[in-house]
Amino acid sequence: MSLLSGKKVVLGITAGIAAYKTTFLVRLLIKEGAEVKVVMSPKAKDFVTPLSLATLSKNEVLTSFTEEDKTLWNNHVDLGLWADLMLIAPATANTLSKMSSGQSDNFLLATYLSAKCPVYFAPAMDLDMFKHPSTKTSIEQLESYGNKYIPVEKGELASGLSGEGRMAEPEFIIDFIKKDIAAQLPLNGKKVLITAGPTYEALDPVRFIGNHSSGKMGYALAQEAANLGAAVILVSGPTSLKIQHDLVEVVSVTSAQEMYEVAHKYFAKAEVVIAAAAVADYRPKKVSAQKIKKNDATLSLELEKTKDILLSLGEKKTHQLLVGFALETENEEENAKKKLAKKNLDFIVLNSMQDKEAGFQKDTNKVKIISEDEIKTYEAKLKEEVAIDIFKEILHRLA
Ligand code: CTP
Repeated sequence: MSLLSGKKVVLGITAGIAAYKTTFLVRLLIKEGAEVKVVMSPKAKDFVTPLSLATLSKNEVLTSFTEEDKTLWNNHVDLGLWADLMLIAPATANTLSKMSSGQSDNFLLATYLSAKCPVYFAPAMDLDMFKHPSTKTSIEQLESYGNKYIPVEKGELASGLSGEGRMAEPEFIIDFIKKDIAAQLPLNGKKVLITAGPTYEALDPVRFIGNHSSGKMGYALAQEAANLGAAVILVSGPTSLKIQHDLVEVVSVTSAQEMYEVAHKYFAKAEVVIAAAAVADYRPKKVSAQKIKKNDATLSLELEKTKDILLSLGEKKTHQLLVGFALETENEEENAKKKLAKKNLDFIVLNSMQDKEAGFQKDTNKVKIISEDEIKTYEAKLKEEVAIDIFKEILHRLA
C-alpha cells in the first residue's frame, strides 16, 4: 500500500506540450492505488486525447461545463468536493495567471476554485515565459493561498531552447506528493517497532510447541502506524497474514529467541515499541536432531524458560514509549497492573479470555488500556479499530 492508496485525485491538464506525459502520470497514480478523474482545459485536447486518459483512468474525462448535446451540466463543485487532492499538470503560464486571480472561464478553473483539498501544480512553459516576473508572481500568489508548487526542471524545451521550464517528470511529481502527504502525518519521521503473531519452539525437525495467535492485532497495529506516517518494523512470528505498505518492513522470525534478537536490534532507534506477540514462555530444553520416534506409552518433555522480550526491553528503555499486551483469565486488572510495573511499560492493553469478542483468531477485540493512574474501557470492536484507539493513546502521550 502507498500513501496515495485510496486517495481521490482530480488531475487537471492544461494546454502545453508536456500534456503528453499525463498518460504516464495517470498510470502511475492508478498503480499507487489512487482513483483518478481527469479534467482538461478545452485546448489541452490538442495535445493529448480524452479517450486515452479516460481509458487509463477508467473514468469519464470532463472538459466543459456541459455535455456536447447541452442536456447535462457537469458539476464542478461536486468534483472539487470529491477530491482528496487536485493536481494541475502541466500548468501553463496562462492557467497559473488565471488561477492566481480567481478566473473561472473554463471547467478546470471552476473545479480548482471549488476544491477544498490540497492543490498541487506543476508548471510547464518556455524558459522566457517562466522567467517573466508575472509568472513568478502567479506562483508566489498561488503558494500564498496554500497551493503547492512542484518545481520545474531545467533542460531541453519544446521550442528547441534549453533552460528552466520543463514540467517535472511524472515519477518526481508522484514522489513530491507522497513526501508532502507524509510530512503532514503525525508519526512522520518516527520509528515504530511491533512484535506480532505466535512463536514456534522446535521439538525436532518436524514438530514444535506453538499457540493459536493469528497475528491480526499486531498486523492491524502495523497498518495503523504506517497510516499515521511511521516507519514500521514488524517482527512477525509465523502467520498467514500479509501486509503491503511502503512504510512497513516485515522481519519474519520463528522462535522466541529469534524474536528477542531482532527486537533488540531495532529497539534503540525506535520511538514507539509495541509487544503484541504471543511469545512462548517455555521451549523444549533439548531439540532433537532427528524426528522423535514413538515407543513407550508416554513421552516427557523437559522445558526451559524463554527470555521475556518485553521485560528485557523495559530494562533497556531510555526514550521509548513502551506498550505491552496482557491476556488474562482471572484477576485481570490486578495482573495487568503488575505486568505494567514489572515490565516498565507506559501502558498495557488488557484483553480478557472471558470476552467472547476477544482473543486468538478473532477479528474483534475488547480491551482496556491500563496505565499507572488510569483505566480506559472500550467496547468490543474490530482489531483495526482497536489499533486506532491504541494509537490515539500513543499520539496523546507523545504530544
Ligand atoms: N512477552 C514477551 N516475551 C515473552 C513473553 C511475553 O515479549 N517471552 C510480552 C507479550 O508480547 C505481551 C506481554 O509480554 O506484550 C505479556 O505477555 P503474557 O504472556 O500475557 O504475560 P507473561 O509476562 O508471559 O506472564 P504470564 O504468561 O505468566 O501471564
